[in-house]
Amino acid sequence: MNVGKEACETSLSFICEDYEEEEPKLCELDQSKTYKGLVGIYVDESTITMIDGVQGELYYRGYPVETLVEHSNFEEVAYLLINGKLPTKSQYSEFKDELIKERGIPDNILAILKSFPRNTTRIELLRTAISALSLYDYDNYDYSQEANVRKGVRIIAKLPTILAFSHRIQSNEPLVEPSDNDSHAANYYYMMTGNEPSQEFVEAFDDILICHADHSINASTFACRVTVSTLSDLYSGVTSAIGTLRGPLHGGANERVIRAMLEEIKKKDNVIPWVEEKLKNKEKIMGFGHRIYKTWDPRAKILRELSKKFWDQWERGEVEGAIPNPTHKDEHGKIDNIYEMTEVLTDYMIKNKHIYPNVDLYSAGLLHILGIPTLSFTPLFAASRSVGWVAHAIEQLSDNKLIRPRLRYIGELNKKYVPMEER
Ligand code: COA
Repeated sequence: MNVGKEACETSLSFICEDYEEEEPKLCELDQSKTYKGLVGIYVDESTITMIDGVQGELYYRGYPVETLVEHSNFEEVAYLLINGKLPTKSQYSEFKDELIKERGIPDNILAILKSFPRNTTRIELLRTAISALSLYDYDNYDYSQEANVRKGVRIIAKLPTILAFSHRIQSNEPLVEPSDNDSHAANYYYMMTGNEPSQEFVEAFDDILICHADHSINASTFACRVTVSTLSDLYSGVTSAIGTLRGPLHGGANERVIRAMLEEIKKKDNVIPWVEEKLKNKEKIMGFGHRIYKTWDPRAKILRELSKKFWDQWERGEVEGAIPNPTHKDEHGKIDNIYEMTEVLTDYMIKNKHIYPNVDLYSAGLLHILGIPTLSFTPLFAASRSVGWVAHAIEQLSDNKLIRPRLRYIGELNKKYVPMEER
């Protein structure tokens, strides 16, 4: 039933009385419908990222993601997303210098990282560390846009340091302080290994970072925007976002993909029986499906190509430039080429279910072959997406409206209170 304005005026007059001139549009909403999961709902307008889920296109500030992957780098894309336009030469070098300058973390945050139980997941470490970091930010109680940009740059700069430190603490290895000249991508490798990366690693890792930098109002970005819409602070927004990203229906999917490949599927011949069994049991196949894309996710296409390149190298022997990962050697003979297994899975899912791969399917195999530990997959997604969260928080606050949807109450009313001794 579509509730028209007239019916609305009678039955919902109690709502409309509260909303004077600015809000009568509430009465024009279809009050009879519940939009579960907010499917198809536009909650605001944005100039940050555009996704065309039918054509399979993605644009950051109007630039196709493929163009940025080909010509740009993570730092430039971060500047673009946060500031709305590509930087000039001097703006770029100033921004890059700022990111380098802000890489260090306070000793007290390091002490917290060292104090956590060793089996804490890295995404939990990250969520907690980012929350604690606000206490050491001298702009913490300055809510101006300029201060938010400064805080945002600090969050983006420090996130890889927290990740690399967490990795080395959990692996009982000495910490490697951040480099004071490497790019964002190269510095991550450096902090993980203590060595300088190859050009091949840097280029591939940079592409991964660009592909994950923003994706409009996905669940974690929504959480971030909801948090800052209460006029809470940027650190709280990013902390909410990390907690939201963690779930397997969102950023946690990449870790599930690689675990399935390494621990359950293992061989190419097992792919079809494995997927058939999962689907028979009505289980979701991680790395497939998307709320917006109903075709190829353009990021999956980019990472698919890269994944092929590195898994071809694995077939031939040595992967050029990967982070040395002792488990890789053990895997030879025990698992098949993950890129090829992914291809079989993709082919099956598209032909039989019309469900396409998303970014997590191909990022998982690629991160693995680049030597990234599985526990760092989702946190690395956060490291890149922090750019989007910051850009969205700033956009939300530039024309803020408290985000507060409604929930349709379907329980009973006016129930009789029964004293405890009579229940
Ligand atoms: N495996 C199997 N079936 C899937 C599927 C998957 N990965 N993704 C969607 N479907 C099916 C659902 O079972 C449902 O079928 P039904 O209508 O017969 O019940 C239909 O497709 C619609 O899926 P639904 O979960 O309602 O869509 P959504 O928009 O709410 O969910 C995701 C989108 C991403 C949560 C969902 O596709 C999913 O869980 N994917 C796996 C997790 C993942 O890779 N997440 C990362 C996203 S970038």
